[in-house]
Amino acid sequence: MCGIVGYIGDREVLPVLINGLKRLEYRGYDSAGVAILGKKPHIYKCKGKVSDLENHLKGKADSGNIGIGHTRWATHGEPNDINAHPHSSYHGKFIIIHNGIIENYTRLRDRLTERGVKFKSETDTEVLANLIEYIYENGNVDAELAVRLALSKVVGAYGLVVMCTDEQDKLIAARRGSPLVVGVGNEEYFLASDATPIVEYTKSVIYLNDGDVAIIRKEQLILKTLQNEDSAPTVQQLSFDIGEIDKGGYDHFMLKEIFEQPHSIEDTFRGRIRSEEAELHLGGLYDVMPKLIDAKRIIIIGCGTSWHAGLVGEYLFEDLARISVEVEYASEFRYRNPIIHKDDIVIAISQSGETADTLAAIKQAKEQGALVLGICNVVGSSIPRETHAGVYTHAGPEIGVASTKAFTCQVTVLTMMAILIGRQKGLISDEKYRSLIKEFTEVPGKIDKILTHSEHIKKLASLYQNATNALYLGRGYLFPVALEGALKLKEISYIHAEGYPAAEMKHGPIALIDDKMPVVIVATKDSSYEKIVSNIQEVKARNGIVIAVVTEGDTVIRGMADHVVEIPEVGNIFTALLSVVPLQLFSYYIAVMRDCNVDQPRNLAKSVTVE
Ligand code: M6R
Repeated sequence: MCGIVGYIGDREVLPVLINGLKRLEYRGYDSAGVAILGKKPHIYKCKGKVSDLENHLKGKADSGNIGIGHTRWATHGEPNDINAHPHSSYHGKFIIIHNGIIENYTRLRDRLTERGVKFKSETDTEVLANLIEYIYENGNVDAELAVRLALSKVVGAYGLVVMCTDEQDKLIAARRGSPLVVGVGNEEYFLASDATPIVEYTKSVIYLNDGDVAIIRKEQLILKTLQNEDSAPTVQQLSFDIGEIDKGGYDHFMLKEIFEQPHSIEDTFRGRIRSEEAELHLGGLYDVMPKLIDAKRIIIIGCGTSWHAGLVGEYLFEDLARISVEVEYASEFRYRNPIIHKDDIVIAISQSGETADTLAAIKQAKEQGALVLGICNVVGSSIPRETHAGVYTHAGPEIGVASTKAFTCQVTVLTMMAILIGRQKGLISDEKYRSLIKEFTEVPGKIDKILTHSEHIKKLASLYQNATNALYLGRGYLFPVALEGALKLKEISYIHAEGYPAAEMKHGPIALIDDKMPVVIVATKDSSYEKIVSNIQEVKARNGIVIAVVTEGDTVIRGMADHVVEIPEVGNIFTALLSVVPLQLFSYYIAVMRDCNVDQPRNLAKSVTVE
């Protein structure tokens, strides 16, 4: 989950590194550090955020044109100055930054210790730095070969960049399991865990593949495999602009991303859906459509918010395409002994495309012969490359750790898929197809309307900012929305919150109801409306506080609930897309009022690349 950056060229390197680390800070913010190859190599690092590193650097930093930087999400060893990256080897010849986990680090460390190597930190990364130097000094090899030989002894995942003080004209980068992107400039190269630190300098990038080793000099990049075979780099063009990774006048990325949703969904639609002609295309699925039509079962895998989107997908595929669906936590899937039949289809959902659990589950499904499709946001990330086919959400960069627009765009893709399959299976008539597409294209405008109620939601947040617990309830399509609302509240405001299917309340959670805990009930007009009205009465009968998300003009629930937030009327299958938005805003405002770091909640990272 850490973020890594590197630069080689003619620019002053420190601003490039610091700028890059700020862009990548969403990946981890336990500590930060940089190393510069100036007249002398220098490493500056400290516990805390990139801003702490900037303070630490005041009046100290050297100038130079080659350097690396790291922002850490701690795995091995507590977040402190010593465990912060970059790490240098025992004689200081190698300086390294690493994202990933060296699984056999204890064994490697013991072996090196037996040979007299001393360690300063508790990290797995320092083991790698020392191993490289040990091979370099004792094997009479150059830096590149030392890196390749060391990596051949490593079990685990890495995206890493190495500098050698004896060979100051190059950076050596390698990837297995953790992402690494190279930005190609004019006689300069940039390295980063994702493209966000690179886009302001160049749009030409190379996504390293697993097993790639890049030897990068200012004027040349040589790509090889770990086994020293030549590999041809593929240069691609980034499709987003620098403006998309700025806050754009909002106080937080999360708020910006909530407000971007109408636009992001339109981007997800772009080139795929046209209301006038009642057309829906998903080019990425063209080749696999016959298999989707014949599928007996779809297994959806994902984690966190992406798993919640998968749950909405379950209702959609069952409703519209009559395919039975199972939704699995990717993290559990691979540790069971899942039964996958040859006509099952696995769909992996991920914003980042780098989630280690989801990647591992994909590998397991592929090994068992399944056709695996991906729904991902980050272009060129690992999941789209590991899956047989898929659909990008095109939500644009999501920087806030709490996922918002990624969720609505994932649900948008799932809805498109379900309509398309249902239509091709002959389950959706011409008329219904036309009306579904028309209504679908109206969703962004309806979300815009919900966003105009943000002040009302802010006022509600001010009333419940000191709550210690919250319960979220919903039925059908709105049950995953309740789960997502609860996740948003707990991850950014640290208020304990649970999501439940509303009907399950009476099987346990009803005991929690009192006159202090807000119960957020997503109760828009759909097929289970009458039932959810009864659930609201059950809460009110026990003096509970009800905040209800309702359909515009609903006077019945308005008469019962303590507070209501209205959303425009919309068909059943689109309710999740609309009703999640007030819950995102509610969590956001509560977190701000509680003075929480909304974009970088404690202990979390945006991209969870450890299992
Ligand atoms: O990048 P992914 O969609 O695979 O990430 C999955 C989860 O880690 C992610 O959704 C996480 O739960 C978010 N913090 C939720 O807001």
